[in-house]
Amino acid sequence: MRLAELKLQNFRNFAAQKLELRPRLNFFVGANGQGKTNLLEAIYLLSRGESFRPAEREHLIRNNSEIQQSRLIAALDGELGRHLLTAQIHESRLLVELDGKRTGFSTLASQVPVILFSPESLAAIKDGPDSRRRLIDEGLLTRGRVGAQLLRDYSRTLRARNALLKQLMDGDQRAGTRDSLASLTSIFLVLGAHLASERTQLLRELLPFWRAAFASITQREPESLALRYEVSGQESLEWTESQIFDVMSQRQKELAAREVAAGSSLVGPHKHDLKFLVAENDSRFFASQGQQRALILAFKIAQINLHRTTVGRYPILLLDDVMSELDADKRSRLMQFLEGISAQVLLSATDLTWSPEFAPQENAVFSVNAGEVRCVESRDRLDHLRSTTLGLRADVN
Ligand SMILES: Nc1ncnc2c1ncn2[C@@H]1O[C@H](COP(=O)(O)OP(=O)(O)OP(=O)(O)O)[C@@H](O)[C@H]1O
Ligand SMILES: [Mg+2]
Repeated sequence: MRLAELKLQNFRNFAAQKLELRPRLNFFVGANGQGKTNLLEAIYLLSRGESFRPAEREHLIRNNSEIQQSRLIAALDGELGRHLLTAQIHESRLLVELDGKRTGFSTLASQVPVILFSPESLAAIKDGPDSRRRLIDEGLLTRGRVGAQLLRDYSRTLRARNALLKQLMDGDQRAGTRDSLASLTSIFLVLGAHLASERTQLLRELLPFWRAAFASITQREPESLALRYEVSGQESLEWTESQIFDVMSQRQKELAAREVAAGSSLVGPHKHDLKFLVAENDSRFFASQGQQRALILAFKIAQINLHRTTVGRYPILLLDDVMSELDADKRSRLMQFLEGISAQVLLSATDLTWSPEFAPQENAVFSVNAGEVRCVESRDRLDHLRSTTLGLRADVN
């Protein structure tokens, strides 16, 4: 599906904005704080039901507006014609409808798949394991309903199990609570092993794509790159689901008393880790920041290529402010990749000094200024954007 039109009403710093998107590269250029990330956030929200940055739902509604409600409307062109995807945000509720029918996010994430590149995602190696797990789960979410539902079921079971453990921690002595915990633990371990096994399968499929993408970004012979998925600190990329289940069950028994003392689940995919190894070393400790970004950039590109291979189409790509995170070589390799595929790309930046010339029919540059987006059509204006850096300035338009 391609985004043909987007309307934002009362969303973040947008009062009422309508824009027509082009099928290929859409650049959003503007100084800091003008609304570029807000715009990409709106699209992400329509696909995933949550923002990629910490935000209460109320914060998404435009401040000081009389109507305490936001609306997002996207017209999407798919193989079977046009679809309308709408979201309404009111207080802490978000209601999303696809063609007038209420739709859950386990369906949407794969029907309108988006892949986000952000400075935060590029920092996943040095950040905590949470952001690395998110990298894999993004692949599960976009690839089909099964993965999305599994993630949802696991996180619901985890929440319910944690609530019971917390009750026991707070002194609940009832036998019923212990019984409920025992039966929930059985379900939890089955779901957890299933989720971990879906993750390892995805990682095994990604591995050759990742190696190839890294070689093409860095223009070097592929080094010995490996992915390591850890269950309780043990390498488990090649394990079967039942091996994962056995190790998790055993560990859970060992930690049963500690789980009650902590009031939370200490075993399961929410604790597993993903490591990116270069020449057998954990890149977290051995690779430079730039190399770490290249490894993640390659991982994202691998995800896009694998998605295309398995699903037959490209997801919509959202790149928020990533060009500023990359050196000139990687910027131009990334641009070459984006130009070489047929995906729709929405990319935000404070300048276009790195951008190549491109055909105007399929691509467009938009300026973003204080919550207003305008298509930049004039040749002089485009040349000006290509020669100026707008970061920390506010004179776009
Ligand atoms: N609920 C809201 N109502 C009104 N304005 C908001 C709301 N939430 C955020 N903003 C405003 O949106 C602006 C930030 O927008 P955004 O993060 O999209 O900027 P940006 O163009 O991506 O900037 P940068 O280049 O620094 O990343 C800020 O000025 C902020 O005050
Ligand atoms: Mg931004």
